[in-house]
Amino acid sequence: AEDYAGKPVIAIVNTWSDLNPCHGHFRERAEDVKRGVWQAGGFPVELPAMSLGEPFMKPSTMLYRNLLAMETEELLRANPVDGVVLMGGCDKTVPALVMGALSMNLPAIFVPAGPMLRGHWRGKTLGSGSDVWKYSADLRAGVLPPSAWGEMEDGIARSNGTCMTMGTASTMAAVTEAMGLTLPGASSIPAVDSAHARMAAAAGRRAVELVWEGLAPRDIVTRAAIDNAITTLMALGGSTNAVIHLVAMAGRAGIELPLSRFDEISRTTPVLANLRPSGEYLMEDFFYAGGLRALLKNLGDRLERSCRTVNGRTIGENIADAEVFLPDV
Ligand code: FES
Repeated sequence: AEDYAGKPVIAIVNTWSDLNPCHGHFRERAEDVKRGVWQAGGFPVELPAMSLGEPFMKPSTMLYRNLLAMETEELLRANPVDGVVLMGGCDKTVPALVMGALSMNLPAIFVPAGPMLRGHWRGKTLGSGSDVWKYSADLRAGVLPPSAWGEMEDGIARSNGTCMTMGTASTMAAVTEAMGLTLPGASSIPAVDSAHARMAAAAGRRAVELVWEGLAPRDIVTRAAIDNAITTLMALGGSTNAVIHLVAMAGRAGIELPLSRFDEISRTTPVLANLRPSGEYLMEDFFYAGGLRALLKNLGDRLERSCRTVNGRTIGENIADAEVFLPDV
């Protein structure tokens, strides 16, 4: 009790589960977050929350997004905590955690799970989603033997982490960063890169500072920040599911978001990323190419640079020195 006295209590809302390989590294990654919280003089407490893993939950994780949002909000309301680190990544966990945190409005920072490494099989680069369905069709047609299907499965999921195409998980992590709720660059880091552990510890440290500064999610998620998120969605060629989730997230911040706003922004925003399924590359390539910070920098005036972010600086300041290293990506 003596160690605890006077230290900000930081809740780590962790959506780890044995049945969610996308978050398989979160058990150990929570220890990195805790190390950061301790370093900054806080007291970490881990609060497990339901995992919503796309690979196994039936009939659809969408049935549970709002349940996780409520769980997050009530975990934060019911327990004696001062700030929060949200750990999510697989599709609906991202909007759910953010929605709950916005409703509760305690100082909060998001730690995205990060994408898996690129898939490899028989000399080909595989991407989650599209390649699974392609080879599943081959299996059912009898063109691909079951043993080869097993090899393909082993090759397509080479690490923990979320789908490494620009599917819902990568999209939602990126829009959450663009909204200002992650540390700069966090959403592009592959789950098993050592940079991911460093980012998690830094998020733990920052969560403690957020409590002292009193900076809460609704100070960050403004109408302009939502516009930045939509602009980012369009520039990435991101998932259409983001439309549903962004409307819900904005609602929790008290911002009405009509569908017409997506249409307006889409008419003036070019697609800048060359990522599957609409393009060629995968999230690991995007990370090596400079990641989301580089893409945001290339949006120029389309991005409202004065928006505040969770590290206390503006998004414009966060991307000032960003560079594109691989222009094809
Ligand atoms: Fe979890 Fe795709 S199945 S991110």
